[in-house]
Amino acid sequence: MKGQDSSLALSVIGAGHVGLVTAACLAHAGHHLVVVENDPGRLEMLRQHPTRMPIHEPGLAEMVERVMRAGPGSLRFTDRIPDAVADSEAAFICVGTPQGERGEANLYYVERVAAEAADALVENGRPDFVLIEKSTVPVRTGEAVRRTVERVLARRGRPDLRFEVVSNPEFLSEGTALKDFLFPDRIVAGVESPRGEVLLRRIYEPVLSGRFDWTGTRPSKHPVLLVTDVQSAELIKHASNSFLALKISYINAMANVCERSGADVREVARGMGLDPRIGPSFLRAGVGFGGYCFPKDVAAFRRLSEELGYRFDLLGQILEINDGQRRLAVEKLRKALWNLRGKTVAVWGLTFKPETEDLRGSPSLEIIGRLLDEGARVRAYDPAAGPLPNGLEERVARAASAAECAHGADAIVLVTEWPEFLGLTDEELKAVQARMNYPVFLDGRNAFDPARLRSLGFEYLGIGVR
Ligand code: UDX
Repeated sequence: MKGQDSSLALSVIGAGHVGLVTAACLAHAGHHLVVVENDPGRLEMLRQHPTRMPIHEPGLAEMVERVMRAGPGSLRFTDRIPDAVADSEAAFICVGTPQGERGEANLYYVERVAAEAADALVENGRPDFVLIEKSTVPVRTGEAVRRTVERVLARRGRPDLRFEVVSNPEFLSEGTALKDFLFPDRIVAGVESPRGEVLLRRIYEPVLSGRFDWTGTRPSKHPVLLVTDVQSAELIKHASNSFLALKISYINAMANVCERSGADVREVARGMGLDPRIGPSFLRAGVGFGGYCFPKDVAAFRRLSEELGYRFDLLGQILEINDGQRRLAVEKLRKALWNLRGKTVAVWGLTFKPETEDLRGSPSLEIIGRLLDEGARVRAYDPAAGPLPNGLEERVARAASAAECAHGADAIVLVTEWPEFLGLTDEELKAVQARMNYPVFLDGRNAFDPARLRSLGFEYLGIGVR
């Protein structure tokens, strides 16, 4: 598709997870991309070995390699925002918005990018540039970006330079980010003028028309491009993530009711999910959600609503229920083992979900911290996770396999439902059970069939299951 007239010169500022996926997918779709990264180590790595990705995302390295092979100039890396502004029609802002002390999103990096881009617009005398917010930002950040750029332009004597701010939130899940980008259900474009809409339509034309594939996958239906004002687009992102987190906390609260009433939360979720108004996804009860997005975004949205003068208490409840699920896991282990002091607990899975190396916000960190505080010994196994943060690594023994992890343990707690665990055969599980000190199995994701594990000799405990 390279070389077609419809291809655009675009830039992406920030080579993190969202930035790299956005750049690779847009280059794959036929555009020409400049990626700006200010971390010297990361930039060097991308320049020297562009196909060796600093983040783990299945398929991303292959996609970059394919793009690079297709021709020079389709994807390049720099540390200079002026290069991006000079060589492209629009820049995606993909910098981090870390969580501040009171839950709010820290917008320092977004502001800095806006100011630097404005300087570059002046230096290049560049009119009609488009700044596209892709990072998850609070509603009205678009306005703040506009104000920042306008101030710089005024200070430097070029208030005449026109530009546009667009909000185009990402809906990428780790592990399936390429598919989420290339074959989305919807693309949201919050624009200030028809020009913004026209540009977004041109950028996403290959995705909207579904005229390309990726590793044999083609879109099953054409996505909807929803054009709104900037504030509504910004809020759609908050609203969607918080609603998904709400679904998880709702089913976790239901699991607690199920435990007290003898019902099985998996049956309840199935029954609820058959109603198309509810839908079956995000109704898996367990030790709760983790990751970089949900905990941070719900807290930021709560803080933001408060700042806007509305107490959105439901959002606080979502986080409280989620925290409660971590405590519940430890309570269940304490109840099963009577005392945790001196007991060995085998933790199966550390990452916040399978198929990622990401430990951020993972339930495992809190569960392990609490177990250690209560005097338990913790041995852990994860197929992909690196060292544990917050000083936990030194306090946890790491095993080389699920079986080694459980050897001599008093209980197993499954925190991440990696296929490697779910694929264990009856013989393998039997062998695991036989070598445990006490065969308690706490299935923190309700991922196993309770009857099967019980028949193999485990004392099976789930979350809200019978
Ligand atoms: C999420 C959103 O899905 C994505 O649209 C957004 O852009 C970024 O945040 P991600 O954090 O990668 O993506 O993971 P996701 O697959 O949504 O899972 C989040 C957490 O919820 C995981 O810890 C997962 O184990 C947990 N979860 C998910 C449940 O506990 N139950 C469920 O039913 C679904």
